[in-house]
Amino acid sequence: MKVLLVNGSPHQNGSTSLALEEAEQVLNRNGIETERLWLGVKAVQGCIACGKCRKLGKCVFNDVVNEVNERADEFDALIIGSPVYYGGPCSQITAFLDRLFYSGGKKYHKKLGAAVVSCRRGGATASFERLNKYFEMNNMPVVTSQYWNQIHGNNREEAMQDLEGRQTMRTMAENMSWLLKCIEAGRAAGVKDPEYEPRIGMNFIR
Ligand SMILES: Cc1cc2nc3c(=O)[nH]c(=O)nc-3n(C[C@H](O)[C@H](O)[C@H](O)COP(=O)(O)O)c2cc1C
Repeated sequence: MKVLLVNGSPHQNGSTSLALEEAEQVLNRNGIETERLWLGVKAVQGCIACGKCRKLGKCVFNDVVNEVNERADEFDALIIGSPVYYGGPCSQITAFLDRLFYSGGKKYHKKLGAAVVSCRRGGATASFERLNKYFEMNNMPVVTSQYWNQIHGNNREEAMQDLEGRQTMRTMAENMSWLLKCIEAGRAAGVKDPEYEPRIGMNFIR
């Protein structure tokens, strides 16, 4: 079992990273492998809505998005981390996720998802909800915690002092570990994965 933790912050070791690390330690303690992906400081290309991924099966921009999609089978869950910028997730993470899910959404069906956000003061829940939306329309059970997964602080040192926020991350990771093990045990016992109907798409004008 392996979990991919994505840090969308331009700070490799800032508050968002701290939140991800809290979760990672619990996953590892529960015998679950982890891999961290930092999106870096260079702009991540956004989706240009060319629709070519539908034919190609991958994005026309050959970058980290295609790399993760090609390796999707290796991961059983995703944890997505972002700082709050003006009340929403940062542009790096939304550019990455828009293209990841538009070109490879089906690859993540039945994998678990959790979002974590960091902020100085406000906008955490709006950002958290925005990130959860990627999971909610991709058949990804969302892993919850004792509170919404948010940590407060303008930098790592301040976020270290948010004991409740750090605990929230650890609780989420406990829940994720438990659910991953339940799914594995269920499959071993013969519980079948969900089978989905062919997708109906309606845009309400035809
Ligand atoms: C462009 C920008 C916009 C921000 N907007 C908000 C905001 O709306 N609300 C807030 O509480 N903090 C805001 N912040 C502060 C960051 O969310 C906060 O410092 C966060 O912990 C940084 O995480 P990091 O250390 O992982 O980069 C903003 C920071 C930047 C650079």
